[in-house]
Amino acid sequence: MSEATTRRMEKIVSLCKRRGFIFQSSEIYGGLNGCWDYGPLGVELKRNLKDFWWRRMTRERDDVLGMDGSILMNRQVWKASGHEDTFSDPMVDCRACKGRFRADQLPEKDGEKFCPNCGSRDLTEPRAFNLMFKTYVGATEDETSLTYLRPETAQAIFVQFKNVLEMSRKKLPFGIAQIGKAFRNEINPRNFTFRSREFEQMELEYFCKPEQGQELLKYWLEERLKFYEAIGIPRDKLHVKNISEADRAFYSKGTFDIEYEFPFGIQELEGVAYRTDYDLTQHQNASGKPMDYYDEETRQRFVPHVIEPSAGVDRTVLALICNAYDEETVTDEKGKTETRVVLRFHPRMAPIKCGVFPLLKNNEALVAKAREVVALLREHLFVFYDETGAIGRRYRRQDEAGTPFGVTVDFDTLGERGPELLDTVTLRHRDSMKQERLPIKELLGRLSPEVR
Ligand code: GAP
Repeated sequence: MSEATTRRMEKIVSLCKRRGFIFQSSEIYGGLNGCWDYGPLGVELKRNLKDFWWRRMTRERDDVLGMDGSILMNRQVWKASGHEDTFSDPMVDCRACKGRFRADQLPEKDGEKFCPNCGSRDLTEPRAFNLMFKTYVGATEDETSLTYLRPETAQAIFVQFKNVLEMSRKKLPFGIAQIGKAFRNEINPRNFTFRSREFEQMELEYFCKPEQGQELLKYWLEERLKFYEAIGIPRDKLHVKNISEADRAFYSKGTFDIEYEFPFGIQELEGVAYRTDYDLTQHQNASGKPMDYYDEETRQRFVPHVIEPSAGVDRTVLALICNAYDEETVTDEKGKTETRVVLRFHPRMAPIKCGVFPLLKNNEALVAKAREVVALLREHLFVFYDETGAIGRRYRRQDEAGTPFGVTVDFDTLGERGPELLDTVTLRHRDSMKQERLPIKELLGRLSPEVR
């Protein structure tokens, strides 16, 4: 990372804490590596992202249903899926400083790997380190009660495939979508929330006939790219990596990674994978329960194939913040220049949609009118009322929070400068800082379509 990008990342991390987007988990006790808490603005941003994904991927489609599986599942699930035996990263220890690192991420000089912590080349041979967190179910702590915190949400969908198929009587192709927590005991959590130990996934398993697989893989890749554009991430910041046969899972007939240009490098946001019939077949074999589908047209029974777009909530939130962060030099009416920090979120993703400000806080009529505006908008979009400090300061605070609109109630609103401006307000636009005058009764009609 160059000095400029390191500095940019530092500013983003510091803004996240200062404005209540993201805090270190358990901070007062020194934190817990790889775990993060979302503050008041962060939780709104995250919720907007998840709600929009859910809307696009399930409610606006006839062919996708939702579900919400449990985090703890029968250990047999993880044996059958292959996670118990193979969900691991190669790990090495540094004999000099006792640091522990992922073997595939070690720096190299003259063809020899060295410790990123102390520089020593005295490293152990790589060993497989299983990334699943172990836990025990019930009062006894032994092999019989052992299970894991799920490392992905997908398996709950596979094991419920037959139940959903039977209750919905869907025809192929159709999908099951889920959003939920996943846990991985990452060897080196890093890059802020990018690689965490507790995170959320938004996953779709889209079941199809084998002959539809390749076409649907391309279809879902394109759908997912459109999704990122719809949340404000421009296509030119997104990269599609076609994973070679040698690098993808042995059962996959095609995998694409959707990557984003983070300040710390181009990194994966989502995987779109054609997983064939691997998962359903594994569960069918291990459980002895059929996972097949009967095609009435061809009168054939077969195990469906699946396309899986699997996105990370936290990584996408981080991409949204990195993408939105901007600094610009602005000059006020008195000729004074200052740096304006602004988060240019797409209004659809912005945590707060509109700030509402009475020009003065000690004027009862202004405050009452501003409260009326809040009541009018609040039912439909998340607004924030602020009466403290100079109006310019209040605008700046909302710029930093990424609020796309600001409404100011002033003496014109009260009709003090003539009846024609009575019940009109100033609408300020975050990005251009332009202001316009419009009647209060037109506000909702103007803002609603922008933030939906
Ligand atoms: N079911 C397939 C699956 O889980 P994955 O590529 O391991 O595939 C999917 O994970 C997505 O989950 C990733 O693209 C990423 O966005 C997110 N993800 C995975 N590990 C993560 C971690 N340690 N921290 C944050 N997000 C993670």
